[in-house]
Amino acid sequence: MAETTKPRSARETDLLERARKRLPGGVLGTSRYADDVAFVVDHGKGSKIYDVSGREYIDYVLASGPLILGHAHPAVVAAVREQMEGGSTYFLVNEPIIELAEEICRAVPCAEQVRFTSTGSEATFFALRVARTYKKRDKILKFEGGYHGANDYAMMSSSPRSPKAFPAAVPDSSGIPHSIQEEVLIAPFNDLGTVEGIVAAHASELAAVIVEPFQRLIPPQPGFLQGLREITRRHDVLLVFDEVVTGFRLAYGGAQQYYGVVPDIAAVGKIVGGGFPLAAVCGSEELMRPFDPQHDGKGDFISQSGTLNGNPIAAAAGLATLAELRKPGAYDKIHATGRALMTGLAGLVQRYGVPAQVVGEPVVLDLVFTDQPVVDFRSLQRGDAARGRAFTTGLIKRGVLKNGQKMYVSLVHSDDDVARTLEAAEDTLKGLAK
Ligand SMILES: Cc1ncc(COP(=O)(O)O)c(C=O)c1O
Repeated sequence: MAETTKPRSARETDLLERARKRLPGGVLGTSRYADDVAFVVDHGKGSKIYDVSGREYIDYVLASGPLILGHAHPAVVAAVREQMEGGSTYFLVNEPIIELAEEICRAVPCAEQVRFTSTGSEATFFALRVARTYKKRDKILKFEGGYHGANDYAMMSSSPRSPKAFPAAVPDSSGIPHSIQEEVLIAPFNDLGTVEGIVAAHASELAAVIVEPFQRLIPPQPGFLQGLREITRRHDVLLVFDEVVTGFRLAYGGAQQYYGVVPDIAAVGKIVGGGFPLAAVCGSEELMRPFDPQHDGKGDFISQSGTLNGNPIAAAAGLATLAELRKPGAYDKIHATGRALMTGLAGLVQRYGVPAQVVGEPVVLDLVFTDQPVVDFRSLQRGDAARGRAFTTGLIKRGVLKNGQKMYVSLVHSDDDVARTLEAAEDTLKGLAK
């Protein structure tokens, strides 16, 4: 098993102290590991990440998803190095970003034009602005448990502690103006009947339905996305796919290709920037036209700009990543690795009689500690969270890194990684079964 049995070094203990002093909670965002397994990253290579005590972890966090080629992939390193020699950013149109826009339009079925942002949170924020501009309506509908980043509209009922009756929204953060809550309607994922009722009742004020086509860990039930497409068409509302996670991951053409449903607008991120800050909104020329500065003063101009948008280093890293993913067999390999993990974990759960199930798709998966069907946020919440945390912590102690809710599978996870992961999972689950 990997070398996490080494003790934490004095240097790492000191770094963790310094982090706690200067970074709120000692962390960079909302995720935080238990104190006994917290660590400071030294470097990553391939499917592994190493901490400053020299401990190795098989990495299924993968930087929260961008690193589908693993850490420091030679093709990405070479592309970035070459671009760096020509300067790191311009705030002006450049060849790598034009090429990336073209590649996105080749791959993503709904894309004819692209507007780049630096983060996925901005991409979903501007996707909704496009929808409001086009429909001249303010409200949006999102799904309970769906995460679209940290913007004020997205931070509604992503993870409500006390969910309200649909379609009322619960803010996920303090500091969001109360008025925004009124603009967001909430529906349960995988429940077309409820969606139809809410959309029908609010169609005259609704600009768009935004959905993660694969919500966090939960696949759409057969017909759900097709149903959303039909309902939004019937009520003249736009459909936005948040493909920040699924884009270039489920398939090269993302969820649109994998599930066979084409929305009006999509937000992509993570993989498309190759591990650098880059995301994008994409849609038809007609929908995207208001971003054109020549529309300023014409009533429907969408003001959108960002200092680092269209960054050539991120574009070069993204292009190098996509080139690897276009190689024959790439997606077959990622899916096969994920399927081996899913089958192996399901077998362990059965063998040790743990009330748990594997949820997800082969590219993003996890164990959820409930034997009831998981189809939406509320059924996901019925999972035993304490056991879930113990599973995550147990794996980390055994040299397998995952975040609290999912495991990202990459092109560079090997059969040996899978075998070691299942060994660590078995050891952990044995303890949890007691
Ligand atoms: C589905 C989805 N949308 C949007 C975002 C926000 O992207 P970013 O973290 O780049 O702002 C995330 C981030 O994890 C995400 O998973």
